[in-house]
Parts: sequence; structure tokens; C-alpha cells
Amino acid sequence: NFMKVDSLSQECENLISSLPSEKDFMGKNLYSYQGSWYYPSTLQAILNFQKHFRARDSDIILASFPKSGTTWLKALVFAVVHRNKYAPNLVSHPLLSDNPHNLVRFIELDLYVKNQRPDLEELPSPRLFATHMPFQTLHDSLRDSPCKVVYMCRNIKDVLVSRWHFRSNVVRKELYSNYSLEDMVDDFIKGVYSLGPFDDQVLRYWKESLVNSNPVLFMRYEEMIEKPEVQVMRLADFLGCSFTEEEKQSGTVEKILELCSFGNLSNLETNKTGTSVCGVAPHAFFRRGGVGDWKNHLTHEMARKLDEMVEKKLGGSGLKF
Ligand code: A3P
Repeated sequence: NFMKVDSLSQECENLISSLPSEKDFMGKNLYSYQGSWYYPSTLQAILNFQKHFRARDSDIILASFPKSGTTWLKALVFAVVHRNKYAPNLVSHPLLSDNPHNLVRFIELDLYVKNQRPDLEELPSPRLFATHMPFQTLHDSLRDSPCKVVYMCRNIKDVLVSRWHFRSNVVRKELYSNYSLEDMVDDFIKGVYSLGPFDDQVLRYWKESLVNSNPVLFMRYEEMIEKPEVQVMRLADFLGCSFTEEEKQSGTVEKILELCSFGNLSNLETNKTGTSVCGVAPHAFFRRGGVGDWKNHLTHEMARKLDEMVEKKLGGSGLKF
């Protein structure tokens, strides 16, 4: 939903007219498609994707709700998968000169927007893609390909606070000037917002990750912060490119973590002043990082409301926040 689509296809117009709709805080229409809310431009891109995308068994798809650590995950997976081609270091590596969002592109916010039909056949394997789509919408389009899906999950309160800053301070300053943090909390409780509801998305990916035959790896931002080495090794194992003993001895894991760290990426010229990606200045993807900033922003009452909602939705699923 970063970009405006000038015109929608007839198919999209027809679909939209049959979908439940609600107004966002600006009065713009959101439509509910396969359990998630979208602005028309994103919906158009998803339809294009569903119609034209042909999965390859070696594809790797990074899924997340916005502000869950997508940028970090993109950098990590790129660095892990391509480590033989690009040795992880701080002197010469694609991540030093290009934003992670250019190296692993979003399906519905980038590749397929504006009625684009990207030619993805030429890309070498393994192809890396990213999405904010829920599992059911993504899965349908993979047509039973066993390609791997990595899901990054983050605490809902940190996601919300990150999203609010992203929108109100950086990306959509004018549009969001009257939209308070409390408004966003209420929208999260109600579940009607672009790409939401967060809790439904998380729960579905979580459940799918528990099905053994499913190639879905469920990662958590907080675990990445707490035990980065363990988590990156887990990621590499899942992706079928485990670190060798020799790599572990020689510090490859640590080098990847350093390359992809908030401190390193956020200080690179390309991410400070580089040209925008998906209509967003690259520095907007780096704010603060870490766990628990919600405590500095949400009132007790806001936190209580969110906890209550999460408990209602996720209680009993084994997924804790
Ligand atoms: P904060 O706003 O809490 O700082 P996304 O990439 O999904 O848009 O998520 C953005 C959030 O991830 C932001 O959180 C951002 O600061 C944080 N982030 C970006 N790059 C990171 C990195 N390399 N390591 C840890 N966190 C990172």
C-alpha cells in the first residue's frame, strides 16, 4: 500500500465490488480479501501475483507483518544463502551498498504493484522474495510447491509502536498528524487496518509451522535479539545450508550477524541517504531496534487492552507474547 495504482483491472474492480469493506481513519476504503484488509492497490498486486507467479521449488519466501523485523530478516537470509558468493565482511558485500529491500523484494508492494508483471524466470535459484500476505493467500499461489517460507514474528506492542512511528513520523507525516497512538491501538483491537489483523496472521503461520510436513519456519524477533547465533544457525539449517564446523570455527556466523546488525546497516550511507524503496526513504526502516520500546509509549490501559485481545485470540495456541 505504499504506492498508488492509477487504474485497477476490471477483474479487480469486480472483485472489490463483492468484498466486505470498511473505512480507515482517513475515510479511505479497505477491503477484506481472504481474511485480511487491503487498500485497492495492494489487492490489485496480490491478484496479479496469484495469477502470474510460478513458484520454483527452491524459492525462499520471507513473510512477516510490517514492523516485525522484515528488513533484518531480509538481510540475514540474503547473507546466509549467498555466503559462498559474497563472503560476509564489512568491506565489500551487496548489503553494504544496497538496501535489504532492494536485494529481497516485496511481492505485493514492489514486484507486482502498478499492474507490473515482472519477469522472474531469469532470476537464478534460489530466488528470495518477501511478503506481508497472510499464509492462506500466499499458500494458494504457491500451488503446492515445497518452497520454503520463513516467518518473522514480533511482540504486538513493539510492532504497533514501530508502525505508529513509521507512519506518523516518517512516511506519512501529513496524513497521520491527527492519528494518535490510541487510535492505532483501537484499530488493532478492532482488527481493521491495512494488512491486518496481525493476530490472525501470526496465529496462522504459527499453526502451519507446527505441521511437520510444512516448510514454514517460525522465527521471533525477541529470540533473534536474545540468542542471535543460535537463531541464525537454525535459519541456515532450515534453508538447507547449515554452517559447517569450519565456518563456525572461523566466525562466519558472527560476521553475518555483524554485517546485518542494526548498528551496521543503519549507519551505511546507502541506508541513510539512499534513494527510496517502495516509496519509502531507506532510513525509515531503521528506528531504534530492540525489545520493549512499547513501555516508553503505551499507557497501562493501552497495554492491557492489547494483552486482553491477544489472550483471547492466541490463548491456548502455545504462542506467548
Ligand atoms: P523499531 O521501530 O522498534 O525500531 P520492518 O523491517 O519489518 O519494517 O521492521 C522495522 C523494525 O525493525 C524497526 O523497529 C527497526 O528499527 C527494526 N530493525 C531494522 N533493522 C534491524 C536490524 N538490523 N536489527 C534489529 N532490528 C532492526
